[in-house]
Amino acid sequence: MTQEPKRYLITAALPYANGPIHIGHLAGVYIPADIYVRYLRAMGRDVKFVCGSDEHGVPVTIRAEQEGITVQEVVDKYHSMFENSFREFGITFDIYARTSNPIHHETAQDFFKNLYEKGLFEEKTEEQYYDEVKERFLQDRYIRGTCPNCSNPDAQGDQCEKCGTALSPNELINPRSAYSDATPTLRPTKNWYLPLQNYAEWLRQWIVEGHASDWKTNVLGQCKSWIEDGLRPRAMTRDLDWGIDVPLEGLAGKKLYVWFEAPIGYISATKELTSDWEKYWKSQDTKLVHFIGKDNIVFHCIIFPAMLKAYGDFVLPENVPANEFMNLEGDKISTSRNWAVWLHEYLQEFPEKQDALRYALTANMPETKDNDFTWADFYTKYNSELVGILGNFINRVVVLTEKYFEGKTPSVGKLQEIDQALINAVAEAPAKIAQSLEQYRFREALAYYMDVARAGNKYMQDNAPWSLYKAGFEENKERIATILHISLQLVANLAVLGEPFLPFTAGKIRTMLGLGNTTWAQAGKTDLIAAGQTIQNTGLLFEKIEEASIEAQVGKLEAIKKAREEKENATQKPEVESTSIVNHKSSIEYTDFEKIDIRVATVLAAEKVKGADKLLQLTLDTGIDTRTVVSGIALHYAPEDLVGRQVCLLANLAPRKLRGIMSQGMILTAEEPDGKLRLIAPHEVVVSGSVVK
Ligand code: 2FM
Ligand code: ZN
Repeated sequence: MTQEPKRYLITAALPYANGPIHIGHLAGVYIPADIYVRYLRAMGRDVKFVCGSDEHGVPVTIRAEQEGITVQEVVDKYHSMFENSFREFGITFDIYARTSNPIHHETAQDFFKNLYEKGLFEEKTEEQYYDEVKERFLQDRYIRGTCPNCSNPDAQGDQCEKCGTALSPNELINPRSAYSDATPTLRPTKNWYLPLQNYAEWLRQWIVEGHASDWKTNVLGQCKSWIEDGLRPRAMTRDLDWGIDVPLEGLAGKKLYVWFEAPIGYISATKELTSDWEKYWKSQDTKLVHFIGKDNIVFHCIIFPAMLKAYGDFVLPENVPANEFMNLEGDKISTSRNWAVWLHEYLQEFPEKQDALRYALTANMPETKDNDFTWADFYTKYNSELVGILGNFINRVVVLTEKYFEGKTPSVGKLQEIDQALINAVAEAPAKIAQSLEQYRFREALAYYMDVARAGNKYMQDNAPWSLYKAGFEENKERIATILHISLQLVANLAVLGEPFLPFTAGKIRTMLGLGNTTWAQAGKTDLIAAGQTIQNTGLLFEKIEEASIEAQVGKLEAIKKAREEKENATQKPEVESTSIVNHKSSIEYTDFEKIDIRVATVLAAEKVKGADKLLQLTLDTGIDTRTVVSGIALHYAPEDLVGRQVCLLANLAPRKLRGIMSQGMILTAEEPDGKLRLIAPHEVVVSGSVVK
């Protein structure tokens, strides 16, 4: 697009409603999209930002099986969790829809019918794997087997997660059902295929020739290799019982392929948002940008554009700035292996520190290669950059204004060279940051933003108004006033320019300065605050994060890893003499059981109780609070082995003092016939506070 677009339509990948949102989602998709949109809005552009939950597809149904609840319960649960997480982290969608909404079903079915009626599908009856036990056809992730490329024994029917090769089920060696582990049989079934090969030349021209200079190399690379490998027909229908019905007569049990209908979710969400939706989807002066993760590239750059082209009328994406993956402590983030930092848990540990995470994830965003999130890096970035640079500068300026000028913005006096240099640096910042943002270089944009704060810190240090004050306030008053005036203008710029990256902090700075709604267009100027304007010292922008809370996070991950390894290593259970298990107690009603509050807690610290051989004092994260429990397990567990482990806690046992320590609950153990106590813990690591029932 050569001309300035009239309007922007920004989409963020619809997350599968099959598990909570984690830092990988934020870093890969939602933070970059949100930064971009906030920037466009600050520029006064016409923009719509759409997203929603992807409630169909195999991952959702697999999750329901794992959790032992209905698919509907799964999608309802995660949809509402997603809404909360996105809101809490300041991701400002104009609409957060869901693919179960009737408007989406209608839109997706109409789309299918349009292509069907134009004769653009190929109808084919083919043999497909079938699970005789579960009486289901097996596609995509429902079928597992050995990867023909890397011998990974757990490759999926659509892709090998280990080597990244795209697969079809019949390529798997030793296929087995992901439901029942049964060896599948083959059965004929009819499906409707989009002949992608018919769009290959058009796609090649549009992507390889048209976007060679503006799409990211990782995106271009994947597109080229798909096109060069030869595009093949892809089934757009599936034999499933969860999803959107294929809108053709007599086809009970056939659903639209999730990757056919989910991207149409962007259209149906826009429809739900505004009656003007066609303006965003059908005017060529709209700039459509899809923010996605790298595993979604083929769907957004090849399949969905081919669908849009087949339908006609629709705009195509101007860009698809896919990110690579964010790993966690050197290991791939994985919902199924519980290896992630979940957003809802993060906020429990670090309340009101959303910007701390937004900052760490942006500064380390996996824009060109996979990156690693570590708690140590988070800690350093927060304390040395947000606290040490940004917070320190703003705090100094506000405190000195309060101290020397009773909190009123002083007037600017005669400018010196050093002042002019800073004013010039500020004047250049908005365009520099904007240029990086326009090119989806969010790390670079954030670094330029932090350079502004760094320049402010240096300016303060070089001018040392506190020394001038000490030397004599009256004779240096004009100079001190000028330094603080300019510094306050810089603080105002940090609020405006920081809004896309650190929205919560930007809001606080605006309140401090009484800044109103100064926009990006005014940024770079040094007259954003009038002399005499009252500055409120509302306290520190960034409170330090204690090392102990970081250690607790690391401990938690270590516990997860250990539990996983133990599970993997567990071979045979020891034989127990059945006669030793006796039914001692008479039966009770369920209402009696309901009185007991047992929940899973995580051990944050453990130490021996002085003078008591059998007792350990434990500090527990119960999900609702942090509490102390004294437990008689000292002969069975060393304190250092307990930190990070999960235990079951009788949480509503009346507190009692043991050896002078108030114990708030009781840890549950299993007593073996020889008297050995073994802790009771969930098989998988679960959210602290999870109720045992
Ligand atoms: O990878 C995912 O989580 C998919 N649910 C993304 C879908 S994006 C779009 F096409 F809806
Ligand atoms: Zn492989």
